[in-house]
Amino acid sequence: MRAIEIVKPGGPEVLEWHEVPEPSVERGDVLIDTTASAVNRADVLQRMGFYEPPPGSSPYPGLEVSGVVTEVGADVEQFKPGDEVCALLGGGGYAERVAVPWQQVMPVPEGVALREAAGLPEVACTVWSNVFMVGRLRRGETLLIHGGASGIGTFAIQLAKALGAHVVTTVGSDAKAERVRELGADEVINYREEDFADKVHADVILDIMGAKYLAGNVRALKTGGRLVVIGLQGGRTAELDLGALLAKRASVHATALRSRPVDEKGVIVRSVVDNVWPLVGAGAVRPVIYAEVPMAEAAEAHRMLDSGEHVGKILLVR
Ligand SMILES: NC(=O)c1ccc[n+]([C@@H]2O[C@H](COP(=O)([O-])OP(=O)(O)OC[C@H]3O[C@@H](n4cnc5c(N)ncnc54)[C@H](OP(=O)(O)O)[C@@H]3O)[C@@H](O)[C@H]2O)c1
Repeated sequence: MRAIEIVKPGGPEVLEWHEVPEPSVERGDVLIDTTASAVNRADVLQRMGFYEPPPGSSPYPGLEVSGVVTEVGADVEQFKPGDEVCALLGGGGYAERVAVPWQQVMPVPEGVALREAAGLPEVACTVWSNVFMVGRLRRGETLLIHGGASGIGTFAIQLAKALGAHVVTTVGSDAKAERVRELGADEVINYREEDFADKVHADVILDIMGAKYLAGNVRALKTGGRLVVIGLQGGRTAELDLGALLAKRASVHATALRSRPVDEKGVIVRSVVDNVWPLVGAGAVRPVIYAEVPMAEAAEAHRMLDSGEHVGKILLVR
């Protein structure tokens, strides 16, 4: 089969479409013939040499795919050849075929094209597990989402609105502000012009900036608030004012999805299928696709992501 190899750490040009060995299918695996994959910020870090795939994962980039099941391992009863599926991966999505533990495989939600379903697993599992399972966001509460125009942000806005939250989000341009309002955001803050911490009181914050926003995020939390950090785009080390946290009886969480054991990913995946897929099927939450790029030209898709102009997901299609 062919896959995108990272020939050395570097810019988008290090992504090359090569002939590589077929993946081996273990007892608990599902082999998927890939229709599409999607680009995530983590793939850029992996390309640059800053994010090794977890042990046992494919060396090729790609944290999600959609496609058709062509083979299943001896222990797999949940899926069969011919099923149209999408899947959360530890790696290997930028390839013609990928083997993945059955626990990480999902049906394609009703009403979503197989190709577009490639842009759902990573955002759905990340947003559901962090905002709802960890952050316990409830109807009527306020959610602050940093980076509302990102792949993660566009999904989080729609899901939180569909479940009755008040949504505030940050973006870096007026054009992006307009797009996130269209997706349902109630309040939008241009972080280049205003300090979000002066404007928001949130029950839950979904943060992708880490150190740079830690103090502001703690300031923006309501009493009993929950800050969930999932990205470190603004650095990993900062001072935490425990006094402020204590006075608000607030909490800070930080999680990563990719490195979790298969069983933990399986719990999240099943919870997404039960709770999120019906909302996608009903049209309340939709994939937000910015562009579709041929998989062999993944370098072009990475250039697009690096430019920061995208809103939503960039797909890699075969
Ligand atoms: N922990 C996990 O398990 C997990 C899983 C998935 C993703 N993530 C993280 O989630 C983040 C989003 O991922 P993605 O793939 O959706 O990336 P993406 O589409 O490339 O989005 C990155 C976003 O960062 C925003 N941003 C940059 N500087 C900002 C600032 N100062 N304030 C607020 N927003 C700012 C950009 O918004 P503007 O263009 O408007 O500036 C852009 O929308 C990444 O940090 C990624 O590592 C974590």
